Amino acid sequence: MRLPLLQILATSLLVSALPTPPSPYNATVLILGGGVSGVIAARTLHRLSPSTSFLIVEARHELGGRLQSTRFPSPSGEGEGYAVELGANWVHGTQTLGFEQVNPVWEMVKQWDVQTRVSDYYGSMTTYDHTGEAAYLPLLNDSLAAYAALVASAPLPGLQEPGSASARDGYDSLGYTPRTPHEQVAEYYTFDWEYADGPERTSWWASGVSTNATYEPTAGGFSRSNHFSIDPRGFSHFLKSEAGSFLDPTQVLLNSTVTAQGEETGVEVTLANGEVLRAEYAVCTFSLGVLQGGAVEWDAGLMPPRKKEAVEAMSMGVFTKIFLQFSQKFWFDTEFALYADPQERGRYAVWQSLDHPEFWPGSGVLFVTVTGDFARRVDAMPEEEVKAEVLDVLGKMYPNVTIPEPMAFHIPHWLSDPLFRGSYSNWPANFTREEHGILRAKTGGRGGKGRVRFAGEHTSERWFGFLHGAYYEGMSAAEEMVECIEGGSGCEEVRDFDLSDD
Ligand SMILES: Cc1cc2nc3c(=O)[nH]c(=O)nc-3n(C[C@H](O)[C@H](O)[C@H](O)COP(=O)(O)OP(=O)(O)OC[C@H]3O[C@@H](n4cnc5c(N)ncnc54)[C@H](O)[C@@H]3O)c2cc1C
Ligand SMILES: *[C@@H]1O[C@H](CO)[C@@H](O)[C@H](O)[C@H]1NC(C)=O
Ligand SMILES: *[C@@H]1O[C@H](CO)[C@@H](O)[C@H](O)[C@H]1NC(C)=O
Ligand SMILES: *[C@@H]1O[C@H](CO)[C@@H](O)[C@H](O)[C@H]1NC(C)=O
Ligand SMILES: *[C@@H]1O[C@H](CO)[C@@H](O)[C@H](O)[C@H]1NC(C)=O
Ligand SMILES: *[C@@H]1O[C@H](CO)[C@@H](O)[C@H](O)[C@H]1NC(C)=O
Ligand SMILES: *[C@@H]1O[C@H](CO)[C@@H](O)[C@H](O)[C@H]1NC(C)=O
Repeated sequence: MRLPLLQILATSLLVSALPTPPSPYNATVLILGGGVSGVIAARTLHRLSPSTSFLIVEARHELGGRLQSTRFPSPSGEGEGYAVELGANWVHGTQTLGFEQVNPVWEMVKQWDVQTRVSDYYGSMTTYDHTGEAAYLPLLNDSLAAYAALVASAPLPGLQEPGSASARDGYDSLGYTPRTPHEQVAEYYTFDWEYADGPERTSWWASGVSTNATYEPTAGGFSRSNHFSIDPRGFSHFLKSEAGSFLDPTQVLLNSTVTAQGEETGVEVTLANGEVLRAEYAVCTFSLGVLQGGAVEWDAGLMPPRKKEAVEAMSMGVFTKIFLQFSQKFWFDTEFALYADPQERGRYAVWQSLDHPEFWPGSGVLFVTVTGDFARRVDAMPEEEVKAEVLDVLGKMYPNVTIPEPMAFHIPHWLSDPLFRGSYSNWPANFTREEHGILRAKTGGRGGKGRVRFAGEHTSERWFGFLHGAYYEGMSAAEEMVECIEGGSGCEEVRDFDLSDD
């Protein structure tokens, strides 16, 4: 039975006045979700406050979250095959000589010897349209230059200011207006393929911030390079190894789906099997899509109306890689290719070959990525239909090749997966810094306790969407929580938002 709100307040004040909490608690801190954010929150607690008990609660059978791979065999049937990454695949930005800042994900990748290769986004590209190979490479250069100008000229908003300009407004103001399918696919590659959404729907300012903070060393970013995992153990190897280096098996509860979160004298978490876990605090790292989707029922005090509105207003992008494997390579020798569809911008536009000397030569693996509304459509289509469309596009790119039947075909369904509901978040035009602060703010236990903290790539102002965003957010949620537990300043709101107004 849930107590009415006022009584909850009275009870929680009473209980927090006791010297030590009674211990029907399963742990002091429950960490909800075992992706990058959850594992790093756990590591931070372990390092800063070894006496604080915690328990990671994860629905899947393993840690990693959006780091997931599936195995494709080698065409010859020999060897261990290839770990095809369904989710995150790159370390975006590593480190630059002469600058201090290092991508913390890059540090873990090096520490655990994950095999990666530099992806040459702009230097290894073949261009196609519906008539076959088509020479429009210089347009790519134009789109890159327009993007750099977009980042440099973004208007910097104040905290409360709407900051309502979209990246499309920005491109318009620069006089960059792609019209032909060739121009549009060049823009799509530079923009949508990164943000999983179009310039119309993306904040000019926030997209510029995330680019600077990841790729531009003179603006606090790491480096311009992108490293792609080709590790046969899967990209998640770095996170699983990191977790294995400090976690005790009793600190992880796998196969455990959270369905409700309540607040009484502490935090109560109900699992799908009906079991109830209790703790003093929780860090919730579920994706933005999960928070929007309603699969977890929240006590009113933990999800007040203004927070719910902010959660709804941030956008969850969709980025879907469609993998094919053929017994023999018949396609481009570059790392990338673009296909400009005559009718629809972004229709099966970005192709990547892993059957390349630098990646997995002889693998026969090729994939095409779709994003945004087109990816939403693909997620809902029968896979056979998607396959037919993809093979048809290959047929247009190679009019003189009879496209063979692929040996393997795989589409991840991040959008319909109830544990993710999309790929990664994107900052929409018209979404303010204040709203994002509310999306991030802790809730529960008024009187400053902040029993539930929210972390994950979506709570990062500078690095939303990225692995390193999830890393930094897990770390700072746990750091603030330790300060709070130990009676320091971490109980105060980081930013002064009063969520109790509504
Ligand atoms: C297709 C794709 C490509 C990407 N490419 C890149 C890339 O190349 N580089 C990059 O930096 N980033 C990339 N990203 C983004 C990156 O994967 C994420 O930013 C990061 O992994 C998010 O980590 P997280 O801890 O915030 O969330 P998650 O990894 O989503 O962790 C949350 C965990 O909560 C669990 N969970 C959810 N609901 C429940 C529930 N009800 N009960 C219990 N557990 C639950 C989930 O199973 C999950 O393990 C990509 C993402 C996708 C999907
Ligand atoms: C949580 O604590 C309750 C009450 O002590 C107990 O019944 C339950 O088994 C515990 N669950 C876990 C996963 O430790
Ligand atoms: C989780 O479930 C999978 C099957 O879905 C099973 O193989 C695995 O052993 C389970 N793990 C735990 C820790 O219960
Ligand atoms: C690419 O654009 C830059 C300016 O943005 C220009 O100097 C350079 O010559 C262009 N290169 C090609 C190959 O078009
Ligand atoms: C990105 O960095 C450049 C160079 O430091 C700066 O001029 C520009 O304003 C920054 N853009 C944003 C959106 O912060
Ligand atoms: C395809 O074949 C035709 C006729 O043989 C030829 O003219 C054309 O150049 C070929 N196209 C490609 C892309 O090889
Ligand atoms: C942003 O808000 C303004 C004013 O309400 C509106 O005119 C504009 O269309 C909105 N832009 C987007 C991309 O939603």
